[in-house]
Formats: sequence, C-alpha cells, structure tokens
Amino acid sequence: MAQFRLPQMSRVQKGNYFAAEPGAKKVRKFKVYRWDPEVGGNPRTDTYEVDVSDCAMVLDVLLKIKNTIEPTLTLRRSCREGVCGSCSMNINGENTLACTKSLDDLREGQVNIYPLPHMPVIRDLVPDFTHFYAQYASIQPWLKTDSPVGSRERLQSPKDRKQLDGLYECILCACCTASCPSYWWNPDRFLGPAVLLQAYRWISDSRDEATGDRLDELNDPFKLYRCHAILNGTNTCPKGLNPAKAIAKIKRLIAERTI
Ligand code: SF4
Ligand code: FES
Repeated sequence: MAQFRLPQMSRVQKGNYFAAEPGAKKVRKFKVYRWDPEVGGNPRTDTYEVDVSDCAMVLDVLLKIKNTIEPTLTLRRSCREGVCGSCSMNINGENTLACTKSLDDLREGQVNIYPLPHMPVIRDLVPDFTHFYAQYASIQPWLKTDSPVGSRERLQSPKDRKQLDGLYECILCACCTASCPSYWWNPDRFLGPAVLLQAYRWISDSRDEATGDRLDELNDPFKLYRCHAILNGTNTCPKGLNPAKAIAKIKRLIAERTI
C-alpha cells in the first residue's frame, strides 16, 4: 500500500533515524516501537528527534511525530485527560498513560516508548485488548439484583457509597495487568489485577445482591489465586489505585465464608 508522507522540509532521515530540523530549540530523542501487520516481519524501532518546546506530555510528542514526521505511526487516544484509558503504553520501562506522563517527569536522555508488554500488538503502539475485555465481561460488571426496585432508584448511604472509592476510578487502561508477572505466565486463566479490582468493585457495592455468586465464581486456583501480591500493578497504576488490596479483600471474604 502506498504510504502518504508529509513534506519533510529540511529534516534529515537516515534509515530509522529522523533528525531534528535545523534550528529546533529544545530537542529530545524518542525511540518508538513500530510494527505493521501489512508489512509483517520483525518489529523495529524508529528514533525521532523532536523539538519539545511546545509539548508538555508524552502524548503531545507522539501526536507531533504523527502530524509532522510520520503519519503512519499508530496509537490510541481519546480524552487526553487520563479518563478514557486508551493511551496506555510502556514509557521508559513503566506502564502508564501517555497523556498524563509529563516530559519533566522522565529522566534525562532518550525516551523509549513501547506498547504494553505481554499483549498481542495490532499495530505500533496499539495492543489487542480482546482477551482483556472478555475477562472483564466474565465478571459481569453490572449491578445484579433480585429484589424489586423502589419507587425511584436503588439508594445507597454515603457510608456505603464510600466503599467504592479507590475502585470506581479504574479506567481499564490495563497498565496493572500488563505489568503483572503472574498474568504474563497465565493470561488465559488468571484474571489479572484490573479485572479483579473491578470484580471487587461490584462485590463491595451495597446495592448488589449477587455477592455470594460472585465470590463462588472467583474461588478458583487460577482466576484469583495466581495473584502472589507482587504489587507491580499497584506500583504502576496511573490512577493511584491499589488492585493488590482489592484482591486481598476478595481472598479474605472467601476465607471468611469457608471458616
Ligand atoms: S487498576 Fe489502575 S492500572 Fe489497573 S486498569 Fe485500573 S486504572 Fe488502569
Ligand atoms: S487519552 Fe484518555 S487516558 Fe490518555
């Protein structure tokens, strides 16, 4: 397929290295993972020198590369505010959100950008979340009730609502899951930190009436108990959430039921 390329102006390209234009004020180097399924073969990395004087976040840089240097560079993004979870990727070895990762927070020198690790890649920085979403669907992430609804809605006290803090904020970016060694070894059967945190979000919802069924479903040597509290997911979560704590609470609830 013919590839559309923007005019390169006076930028010099040598192989996979794109030098900054002469006169660029504040240049940083970005090494970016590239793989195109239509071309096939092994992945490669391209290195771009970018004038970052008008960029605050890593996402700004990637969009600048896409808009001015390499239009085929593929990535996901939507909200640009750390809300949609679509720009998750690995930046300098850390799974995080490109839109909230400030350039000032990165160490000096070259910035290395890869897709989330241990997930199939659709193209460039876009991982395939098909399996991740199927696992999410498997925990039935919606309010399950048997009792008739009241005249208006199912009410919740402020105290009960507070139980959801630290859980409802999860944006399903999968940074935690893709950083978890237990998930790397058993992605087919271990649900991983993100999905387990979401499972606990519904278990701890005072309005939900399927707590017992939810715990029965999770009481499985692989779905839940492959978590060995390595804490990679908790350490990397860009929203500051603690999936390890949620998983520990599920384990405790199951243990209390079986005593
Ligand atoms: S717990 Fe954090 S890292 Fe994991 S999916 Fe949710 S927001 Fe992303
Ligand atoms: S673009 Fe939405 S979280 Fe980054």
